[in-house]
Amino acid sequence: MQTSGESVGNGDGDAVAASLLAWYDVNARRLPWRVLPNEPAPDPYRVWLSEVMLQQTTVAAVRAYYAKFLELWPTVEALAAAEDADVMAAWAGLGYYARARNLLACAREVAQRGGFPRTEAGLRALPGLGAYTAAAVAAIAFGERAVVVDANVERVVSRLFAIAEPLPGGRTAIRAATDTITPDMRAGDFAQAMMDLGSSICTVRAPRCLLCPVSGPCAARAAGTAEAYPVKAAKKAKPTRTGTAFWIERDGAVLLVQREGKGMLGGMRALPDDGWSARTDGHGTPPIAGDWRTAGMIRHGFTHFDLELQLMLCGSADCASLPPGEFWPVDAVEAAGLPTVFAKAARLALANR
Ligand code: ADE
Repeated sequence: MQTSGESVGNGDGDAVAASLLAWYDVNARRLPWRVLPNEPAPDPYRVWLSEVMLQQTTVAAVRAYYAKFLELWPTVEALAAAEDADVMAAWAGLGYYARARNLLACAREVAQRGGFPRTEAGLRALPGLGAYTAAAVAAIAFGERAVVVDANVERVVSRLFAIAEPLPGGRTAIRAATDTITPDMRAGDFAQAMMDLGSSICTVRAPRCLLCPVSGPCAARAAGTAEAYPVKAAKKAKPTRTGTAFWIERDGAVLLVQREGKGMLGGMRALPDDGWSARTDGHGTPPIAGDWRTAGMIRHGFTHFDLELQLMLCGSADCASLPPGEFWPVDAVEAAGLPTVFAKAARLALANR
């Protein structure tokens, strides 16, 4: 491990954990999926649901979705019995839709086996549960000592130990360092304390080191270089893809299709398109003959590329050769559960039709 935080690296992990837990006892954020320090353990379903939603997504964005899911499906058994299309539609707008497909697969397996496994290894074997989620649920819901590393923890720990190896390679060292400070007891509170510290004090820019309960042993703080961590490898420029979506309207209803199972936005309702997700550039031709015009373009950023999506509207179409789908009332298109890129396209259509 590349570290220079001697006092932490040399086995003062217990003191770091104690300081953080004492800070958390007073400063823990009240969040809908949490219990406060010293309250009985939370419902594993709620912990799991929130942790899946919180991957790559902010607390602010998750709140409303979490409340909606609990209202619709208050237990893992209820979620397991839900229709796929209803769950995908309820997830619309939260992004990273593979999470919703995995959520359902996991709920069904958990319901079938009669409950969540109680260990990190058992959780890791469930569909779609990666290392992070398995560790977080094991620690927060079941009190198991597990090493929980999300982006906030990466920032806190890389500073505490001054880990200079750039991400993503530096993650091995960060995980090993986190292991040295994770306590045997209250591992869930400890993980959430690190997350809260990362979001409120050990922030990306202008960290508030004067208020930090672990500024004493922090190697980056001592060197005055906290903002330099975590070090990241230079990012490759994101490519731009282009494509076309089609608005086919008949009697006040618009044609929506269901996207292919596992690809981009798989399983989601969508406008028909020209297969942009599998292509690198250009605009495809409409799926049916008709009187087409261009309504404009929307831009949308995905993780690995930016999309410029042209929208074409059809005046009168050859309805005999429509692609398979359903006509959805235009007035209620907001309720169709379109992923954000197609919700943007629908708004453009509504303004230009
Ligand atoms: N991000 C991921 N999990 C979290 C949690 N349990 N509390 C706050 N932020 C989080």
